[in-house]
Amino acid sequence: MRKLRLGVMISGNGSNLQALIDAAAAADYPARIVVVISNRPDAYGLERARKAGIDAICIDHKDFDAREPFEDRIHEVLSEHKVQLVCLAGFMRLLTPGFVNRWRDRMINIHPSLLPSYKGLHTHDRAIEDGVRFAGCTIHYVRAEMDNGPILMQAAIPIANGETPDSLAAKIHTYEHRMYPAAVKLIAEGKARVSAGKVVFADDVAMPDEGLVSPSA
Ligand code: GAR
Repeated sequence: MRKLRLGVMISGNGSNLQALIDAAAAADYPARIVVVISNRPDAYGLERARKAGIDAICIDHKDFDAREPFEDRIHEVLSEHKVQLVCLAGFMRLLTPGFVNRWRDRMINIHPSLLPSYKGLHTHDRAIEDGVRFAGCTIHYVRAEMDNGPILMQAAIPIANGETPDSLAAKIHTYEHRMYPAAVKLIAEGKARVSAGKVVFADDVAMPDEGLVSPSA
């Protein structure tokens, strides 16, 4: 099987990276991680990658005096590794339109909210503060505007009575870990693609037909 070549970009713990590493360990998974890039030398995800025998490279943004040369270096490493799809997995630097456009429709991101609600940081605190009944997470193709772009997959997670940002974050993480490998698989199998600014799916991609009501009714 010809596997889609992934480059994963991280800034921290890398639990979503780990979910991809674990999924890609299966012989029949249609993608493999060829390089992991972190902008922070202390990101634990670098260690996760090395343990899995994956090239793990730190490109520290502090070593560059502007965004462009920093991103040029990233682009160079991704290109050297013949990356076909970039997966942002907790990569916490804003990317310039120049970089984003070079990877247009070949770069996806995971964000811990039901986009287009709660772009940016502190998504769980803000959702709890607003009293919305559902939080969630989203995987989307990356566009120049932050946390924007065609949406590939979402999970809706009810906010429980007495929910805290930490308890919500833990719940959302479990769904992120389930979604990221599934979303990459859809792309690798050619079952999801961008058309006219939206993601369209092959006919055999399963969609849930049940809604979710919270509180239950
Ligand atoms: C994830 O929850 C991801 O959704 C979020 O960072 C976390 C990284 O966790 N990303 C963003 O907030 C991007 N705007 P991880 O390092 O354990 O995968």
